[in-house]
Amino acid sequence: MANDFVEKGGTHKGFAPLKVLFCPRCTLAQLSVAVDPQVLYRDYLYVTSPSRTMQEHFAKLRKLIGEEQSATSVLEIGSNDGALLRFMEKNGASRILGIDPARNLSNLASKEHIPTINAVWDRDAAEDAAAHFETGVDIILARHVFCHVDNWKDFLHNLAVPSKKDTLVCIEVPYVQDLLEGCEFDTIYHEHTSYLSIQSFRAALNGSPWRLHRVERLEIHGGALLLMLRRTDYEGKAQESVRKALESESITLERWREFAVKAHRKIGELSAFVRNLVTSGQEVVGYGASAKSTVWINACSFTRSQLRFITDTTLLKQYRFSPGSDIPIVDEGALTRELPKYAVCFAWNFFPEIYEKEKIFREKGGKWILPHPEIKVV
Ligand code: TMP
Repeated sequence: MANDFVEKGGTHKGFAPLKVLFCPRCTLAQLSVAVDPQVLYRDYLYVTSPSRTMQEHFAKLRKLIGEEQSATSVLEIGSNDGALLRFMEKNGASRILGIDPARNLSNLASKEHIPTINAVWDRDAAEDAAAHFETGVDIILARHVFCHVDNWKDFLHNLAVPSKKDTLVCIEVPYVQDLLEGCEFDTIYHEHTSYLSIQSFRAALNGSPWRLHRVERLEIHGGALLLMLRRTDYEGKAQESVRKALESESITLERWREFAVKAHRKIGELSAFVRNLVTSGQEVVGYGASAKSTVWINACSFTRSQLRFITDTTLLKQYRFSPGSDIPIVDEGALTRELPKYAVCFAWNFFPEIYEKEKIFREKGGKWILPHPEIKVV
């Protein structure tokens, strides 16, 4: 499991096959198995990044949402440590509520005065949310949650429970078109049970209380979609963006096959590149213990003898070990303390910000290895 960073002597969550299946009819790609959410999320180490990139993303979301609806009351599903709800509250939302299955993160959010229910998004949680908002909520947010969910039908029906006629649902998911174009194979891991196209998402809405109202493409995390939904009994018309986005979409089995070939090539390239550096006596480390780092490290079979450590800003991940390789995760200061010659940036989705931030590393002759979109030394 890609986020299964354990402490010294800790027990791993286990293994499961990682295989992508594709439906040529509706263009949905899904994993062949769904791991029990209790195993994946009960104690969860992924904390929404407090980075500048993420704050800018939140501001963009708020602007787009504001064009549709005033966000007085906001419910967030998969609210993590409450970062987005805090942002919404600072920017005018007077009533907020988060729902998150991770005990540790719900506690963290509640301590910070972000009302949070520790639960998966099921019927009970939906009823609790309805009771919290009493007359129906204005906005429901679900960032990078839908692609983690196995039972879409219940998820969508439960969204109707705390809704009113003009509730706006905003679902953010990684976009499969960007995944294919950028060969982002490192975003394929057990938490992401599906890789959504707009066409497949529209098919999933059939028979649900929701329809697509507006679609926006976003840059975050290597390319994502903002899917805005309105209830089927909402009177306003769907926006042109839905038709345009559907027209520009092209997801085929052929493209997935090309993706697979390219992914193998990239894995071979990074693996050989790092091994050559190490053989010639250069020190290489990892930067950002993202889930993506676990995918790369296991695909390349890197061990501590290739990457001595991985730095990460997330306190919860530090002094734990990367799953599969047991490479230690250390604080971000280790980069300038130890000054290795090379650092592989596994948090490539934040690279411009990281490049600026880690000036000392650069000035002392440190070089970045970027694994994405193509392997490059900066
Ligand atoms: P993500 O791409 O899945 O959001 O993961 C990014 C990881 O990188 C996360 O564990 C936090 C870490 N990170 C750093 O270590 N330094 C940074 O400056 C940023 C932005 C992220």
